[in-house]
Amino acid sequence: MKPIVVAWSCLLLTFLCSLRACHLYWSSTKEFRSMEGRPFRHNSNKTELEQRRVLSSLAAVEAAQQQSILALDIDSQPAQEHVLGDRPDGLFYFTQISDLHISKYRSKGHTLHFLQYIQSVLPVIRPEFVVVTGDLTDAKDHRRITSQQYLEEWKTYKMAIDQQPWTNTTWYDMRGNHDCFDLPSWQSKVNLYRTYGQSADRVEQGKGIYTWQHSPSYGDYQFVAIDACPKRGPSRPFNFFGYLTSSTMDRLATALQKPSNHTFVFSHYPTTTMIFGVSKDGHTFKDLAKHYSIYFCGHLHRLIAGLGDVLQSYDPATKTLELELGDMKDHGMYRIVAVDNDLVSFVDARLPPSTQPSPLIFPDDTIQWPTKLPLDPVILITNPKDARFAMDAKEPLHRIRSSTHIRFLVFTDVPPDALVFYVRIDGVVIDDGTAPLFVGDEKQPLWVLPWDPSAYANGSHVLSIQVRTLNGLMGESSILFRTDGRRAKIGGGAGEWIISTRMSSVIDQQGAVTGPRSLRRHILVGALRCLQLPSAQPSVWYGTFGFLLALLTLPWFRAEFIPSGETPAERFGTFYMYGMVFGQEWVPLADTWMYAAEQVCLDVGVFFAVFLVHVIPSELLVCSHVKLTLPGDPLLRRSLVQSPWFRGVEIVYWLWRISELMALASFYGGIWPALVQNILVLWLLFVGMTLGTSLCTVGNSLNELYWMTNGLDGCEGCAKGPLKATMVMTDQQQQVAEDCHVVELDCRLSASCSSGSSASSTPFNRSPRAKNRKRSRG
Ligand SMILES: *[C@@H]1O[C@H](CO)[C@@H](O)[C@H](O)[C@H]1NC(C)=O
Ligand SMILES: *[C@@H]1O[C@H](CO)[C@@H](O)[C@H](O)[C@H]1NC(C)=O
Ligand SMILES: *[C@@H]1O[C@H](CO)[C@@H](O)[C@H](O)[C@H]1NC(C)=O
Ligand SMILES: *[C@@H]1O[C@H](CO)[C@@H](O)[C@H](O)[C@H]1NC(C)=O
Ligand SMILES: [Zn+2]
Ligand SMILES: [Zn+2]
Repeated sequence: MKPIVVAWSCLLLTFLCSLRACHLYWSSTKEFRSMEGRPFRHNSNKTELEQRRVLSSLAAVEAAQQQSILALDIDSQPAQEHVLGDRPDGLFYFTQISDLHISKYRSKGHTLHFLQYIQSVLPVIRPEFVVVTGDLTDAKDHRRITSQQYLEEWKTYKMAIDQQPWTNTTWYDMRGNHDCFDLPSWQSKVNLYRTYGQSADRVEQGKGIYTWQHSPSYGDYQFVAIDACPKRGPSRPFNFFGYLTSSTMDRLATALQKPSNHTFVFSHYPTTTMIFGVSKDGHTFKDLAKHYSIYFCGHLHRLIAGLGDVLQSYDPATKTLELELGDMKDHGMYRIVAVDNDLVSFVDARLPPSTQPSPLIFPDDTIQWPTKLPLDPVILITNPKDARFAMDAKEPLHRIRSSTHIRFLVFTDVPPDALVFYVRIDGVVIDDGTAPLFVGDEKQPLWVLPWDPSAYANGSHVLSIQVRTLNGLMGESSILFRTDGRRAKIGGGAGEWIISTRMSSVIDQQGAVTGPRSLRRHILVGALRCLQLPSAQPSVWYGTFGFLLALLTLPWFRAEFIPSGETPAERFGTFYMYGMVFGQEWVPLADTWMYAAEQVCLDVGVFFAVFLVHVIPSELLVCSHVKLTLPGDPLLRRSLVQSPWFRGVEIVYWLWRISELMALASFYGGIWPALVQNILVLWLLFVGMTLGTSLCTVGNSLNELYWMTNGLDGCEGCAKGPLKATMVMTDQQQQVAEDCHVVELDCRLSASCSSGSSASSTPFNRSPRAKNRKRSRG
């Protein structure tokens, strides 16, 4: 076939594949677009937004006038100013825990921590309510490979809450990804959350969004919980990201647009690990985010080794905070959030260490509670508020400046008169004869200490409060505060960075322009570049090109993602880069994009690079080392890629990639179908064969090296005078070359290269065409 025909066919194929890829992308993300015929990406219509806001506040005023005497009271004294003084008013608090991972197989942490929290912490804190942000159960088997919903774990969760003998705490919860591992649908009987979750009815009624209010005399506080689990939950590991379809976004928009003093959102997934659709009014999540104050989440635990100590960030665009909470499972973390006259403060505390063994299952349906732990006092400073978490647009920060007292809550089971305080500001003990005064009660352990905020008018200061009990327990809390209402940097380092970047932006509607399109473009540009390079190894070029197109357009593999499904259509899904397909239904998980990215880098990228270094020894790509070596030169034979250890690394790497595929099979139902119907397997076999056979003959066709060097940017930067090199190709390339009429390459050599390389450039001046032709004919 004429090369020109080949090239055009490839272009045509690429074009058709792009169409197919766009179609696949379009169908997989259908649920993120509104069904109301709105444009795909819709910039929020400002006037419309404003209109809605006016309407909703009108409605609120109407509602208030109609019934609430309370609201009338507030209305009639709008100018009432709240002073942060020594009265225990305007204050409430609640607690959040996350990632319990109650497990029937793992005894350390897990179930034990949860029981200890209920037994030792809750009675001391007595919060307004508890919110559990997902991953209630672990759902992993004893080898931590496969996953499924275990009845025992769910029963333990429910029994522990129902049999809490100490308090009647209101309890809200939601599912995390572990709670929807191996879950065919919400209606499925293996959806044990539906039976054992505390808020299952609310989730079901609200179709993924539910709200509750706290309306004391001094304000209205609104809480919104989001269940962002995929509608069909694959087993692990391809079930890490959550999403909200455009119809769920509509409900979220409705929930968030109610006026309130503060709105708090709870979700298992940090926004980095979520994909948000567009609501029918064309609102993206960013638009809606303006309506809440804080987004509380879990899911990332504390990442690895301290990296995630502070997964907390402030978004200046929406003026909101996102606060990830570490896990209960390993770290025993819990959070107390207080709202004091509309200033929001929180403290993340840990369970005291304990080495008690924990029973894993409770067969007789009663919990065997662990022994009560002595709890170090936990201090939550509510005034001044920590400047790192100040929301200048949403909090009345000026109240700090006009406050008369430092205010803090102390949670301990020791009576107030058995506590000793040490209060320091900027390291200086406050020692003017006044001691903190207990002004609260059992339900509100508030302490106050008079202060003069104007003494700290400039810059940031550190307030640290230490408390000791007579029986030797100690608690401490430090904050950075400002009285000028400005923010301080959170300074969370890597953790803050992670939570403020968007891992899932690859298919996020808001990040769509830079995300999938550029990914796709990169892949396509890569494919085109391959085409432009006539190759020393046509099988490698065309193999890679074909594989990339296949990745874009074909299903990658088929596997049993949801083993507990009842019909094959429920159990078996088809994996595309764009999501999974069960029957006819797309589940657009960001997990598939992450996996695709990983495979493209590790399987295609790395092996392609390996092919390249085989064909073009790296010596030739480094300008300062440009040496035109003769075919058969021993220098080339000794090159890096030929060394045994390099080959060894290649083999180990290849085996590792194969083992990753084996792991995939072990997650999703074994060799058949996960490995047999798998294009990645085909690719790795192809790679293995190519590396094993044809590339052994590297260096034999040196001419090809220069041909390819030209296509890469290897010789750039050392341009002095272009050196025309006439080259001769293999038979096939010769045809390409003859089509182009010119077989001249423009390898720019540096002065030193060309002056010192008269010998090496000779082969080209001495018409190697004839020579090579002779060889290839011979
Ligand atoms: C915004 O919404 C209003 C009312 O729905 C409409 O009249 C106007 O054309 C819209 N503007 C844009 C830019 O879409
Ligand atoms: C718990 O609730 C029950 C009934 O609602 C009530 O009788 C009991 O006093 C409550 N206990 C506490 C500690 O609030
Ligand atoms: C809550 O909001 C209302 C209405 O904006 C306001 O009058 C009230 O002072 C706020 N409550 C607090 C504690 O700031
Ligand atoms: C704050 O800074 C200003 C100017 O830098 C200074 O005049 C003032 O005394 C400072 N106030 C305090 C309380 O340190
Ligand atoms: Zn978790
Ligand atoms: Zn999770």
